[in-house]
Amino acid sequence: MARILVTSALPYINGVKHLGNLVGSQLPADAYARYMRGRGFEVMFICATDEHGTPAELAAAKAGQPVAEYCAELHEVQKGLAEGFGLSFDHFGRSSSARNRDLTQHFAVRLFENGYIEPVAEQQIYSKADGRFLPDRYIEGTCPNCGYERARGDQCENCTIQLTPRELVSPRSALSGATDLEVRETRHLHLRQSLLKDDIDAWIDTKTDWPVLTTSIAKKWLHDGDGLQDRGITRDLDWGVPAQFDGAPWSGMDGKVFYVWFDAPIEYISATAEWADAHGLGEDAWQRWWRTDAGADDVTYVQFMGKDNVPFHTLSFPATLMGSGEPWKRVDYIKSFNYLNYDGGQFSTSQGRGVFMDDALELLPSDYWRWWLLSHAPESADAEFTWENLQASVNKDLADVLGNFVSRVTKFCRSKFGEAVPEGGAATPLEAALIDELAGRIRAYETQMEAMALRKAAFELRSAWVAGNEYLQEAAPWATIKTDPAQAALQVRTGLNLVRLYAVLSQPFIPDASARMMAALHCIDWSWPGDADVALAALPPGHDFAAPENLFRKITDDEVEAWRTRFAGGRG
Ligand code: MF3
Ligand code: ZN
Repeated sequence: MARILVTSALPYINGVKHLGNLVGSQLPADAYARYMRGRGFEVMFICATDEHGTPAELAAAKAGQPVAEYCAELHEVQKGLAEGFGLSFDHFGRSSSARNRDLTQHFAVRLFENGYIEPVAEQQIYSKADGRFLPDRYIEGTCPNCGYERARGDQCENCTIQLTPRELVSPRSALSGATDLEVRETRHLHLRQSLLKDDIDAWIDTKTDWPVLTTSIAKKWLHDGDGLQDRGITRDLDWGVPAQFDGAPWSGMDGKVFYVWFDAPIEYISATAEWADAHGLGEDAWQRWWRTDAGADDVTYVQFMGKDNVPFHTLSFPATLMGSGEPWKRVDYIKSFNYLNYDGGQFSTSQGRGVFMDDALELLPSDYWRWWLLSHAPESADAEFTWENLQASVNKDLADVLGNFVSRVTKFCRSKFGEAVPEGGAATPLEAALIDELAGRIRAYETQMEAMALRKAAFELRSAWVAGNEYLQEAAPWATIKTDPAQAALQVRTGLNLVRLYAVLSQPFIPDASARMMAALHCIDWSWPGDADVALAALPPGHDFAAPENLFRKITDDEVEAWRTRFAGGRG
């Protein structure tokens, strides 16, 4: 059976992530990984903190901490929040690991041997006021492409264009604001991506099923302007993977480290090795996911990321893998996301604008957020978070539709038949119609989940919940029981089996509620529904359960008001 490798873009270490970050990578990746596990596939779901580079250095400086200590701390914070959101990583690694240092250096050597890395004398921006060379990100200025005034020297976050610092209009030091910058000579390693342009282009042409958002960004970088540019992959920083090391086939890189975007995606592989190490497994255990000479040809590899990450995953990282000349597994499908906006503007880490993962868990259980975010994922366009919208989704979909269904069925059964599945009579056209409707919904849900179309999948899932409510409304066991108790018993048995079916289907979206439903049913049978009628017979007559507490609570208007006010000012 095919195995599925799922990676989520690695969150930067520089602070708690906001909900826009979460919905653009880790959360949809989790829903997909959970779904695939539910279908019985062997899944490896990998994430890690992206710990190197200037974002880490700047954040540590701001926190007044040594960078290693800062990263260790924030890694634990992010790991805890990931657990709080039910993100089911097989491993949550660190790009600062020894595994990643070794593998990054290994790739660099291989690329050098194959002629894809060369040392180049470079003119670099030196800030006299700061007394140092400034890495790209330490330089800010106006974007030459879109005019955004706070573009960074590596990328404009407004229009996603990749930049070099010298392209910025009116550059200044991000450290001190100094504008007396001068150009001095130094040596750096360059990745000669341009030599791989045709190979990458041909490879992307084989990906006919990729979302347009993904391929259009890749093609733009391959063909617009001068096409794929060679890029410096070393930086003048202390914190990172050292570019000068024992066995390095070059000299003169002392005091330099690899560029964070060079080592970060390599951490997908390294984190899988970290996983093997953590489980006391050998090299084979991770190589079967990553080396086509160790079985990874059977693997389907899917990456999740925000649109600003696409160039690095369609161009630079594939260039690293191809250029190594080694049999590394390459991505089969890239699911990319647009942006989630916050109440009429952008979520912003630097301005503390919006709702962050820690805030969110303080306000509401993770399932509420998961449901809203996944059912409103910014797939075909940017999406907008508003408090009213969250309230409406939670109150209607979760509380009124799903929660109410579970509560009515289990409580009615308890009061009339006791806390065990009743025996009941034979199915009628009403049950047959329900089964028909569900069969269609389940297949549609599968199709959408396999296509990673989360909004559409959420729609099918919700429709399956609605079908149960409609059935219950029509069957009306509370009325039936007066004239035909056996028929009412069948209706209740059908309802209880629907609860189990919903638990299984909903698990990728709302895993905690699913677990509570299964616990209430005293059931451990998570098997995926093949035929809807078989699925509705999973709990046999006589099987005992315990009616659960309400699964969801409603969000009040007062809460919405209070939260809007509380989050208007930013985190400071
Ligand atoms: N840290 C980057 C971001 O948040 C994503 C890195 S993805 C990786 O945008 F694979 F390169 F690590
Ligand atoms: Zn721009």
